Amino acid sequence: MRVIVADHPLIKHKLTYLRDKKTDSPTFRRLAEELMTLLAYEATRDVRVEPKDIETPVAPATGIRLATPKPLIVPILRAGLGMLEGMTRLLPSAEVGFLGMVRNEKTLEPTTYANRLPDDLTDRQVFILDPMLATGGSLAGAIGFLADRGARDITAVCLLAAPEGIERLREATSTVVPQVTLVVGAVDERLNEHGYIVPGLGDAGDRLYGLVD
Ligand code: PRP
Ligand code: URA
Repeated sequence: MRVIVADHPLIKHKLTYLRDKKTDSPTFRRLAEELMTLLAYEATRDVRVEPKDIETPVAPATGIRLATPKPLIVPILRAGLGMLEGMTRLLPSAEVGFLGMVRNEKTLEPTTYANRLPDDLTDRQVFILDPMLATGGSLAGAIGFLADRGARDITAVCLLAAPEGIERLREATSTVVPQVTLVVGAVDERLNEHGYIVPGLGDAGDRLYGLVD
């Protein structure tokens, strides 16, 4: 697994405000989108392209355009939805599939409760969006789900990650999808005893959308 930590002062600046518990939901949503757009620049560095012939007002030229099939973006519900707009702003012609996962806050194990994805993901370039990589259970489960449908070219984009989650993801993907790339805004210190990232930003879904019992 390739890990890219997007080390840019603008990303650090926006993450600082995102982490701050005084930041309200509307501001948190805007920052999550903006951070995603900045991370998308790194995450799409290897997006598949094909040549395209054009004519400028001066001369013929050959450029590039996104190849088909178009990339598939998969936000992990709920919190991944907060990153979707920031990604589609850069990749407006991409398709979007949905995967709903929730972590049991006692066992820390995830369950999948919804999916709306193509059955066959062979040869699709897939971008998974989830703001938090904590224990890594949710992202490992999501990658496993997509790999079962044939996906082999997967880039996961997270705002924050814990070292423990990165290691779990590395082990979980090493045999099935060795080509996974993880793009992350920052790698924090550790997980606490409740499975939360420290210092982190708290519960990303709640901060985006409020509490749900
Ligand atoms: C959060 C987050 C990740 C997951 C990370 O989702 O958005 O999906 O936890 O934790 P893990 O790495 O330990 O699996 P949550 O389950 O709280 O659901 P939500 O997005 O609906 O709030
Ligand atoms: N999920 C979150 O939203 N935040 C954490 O710190 C860990 C899991």
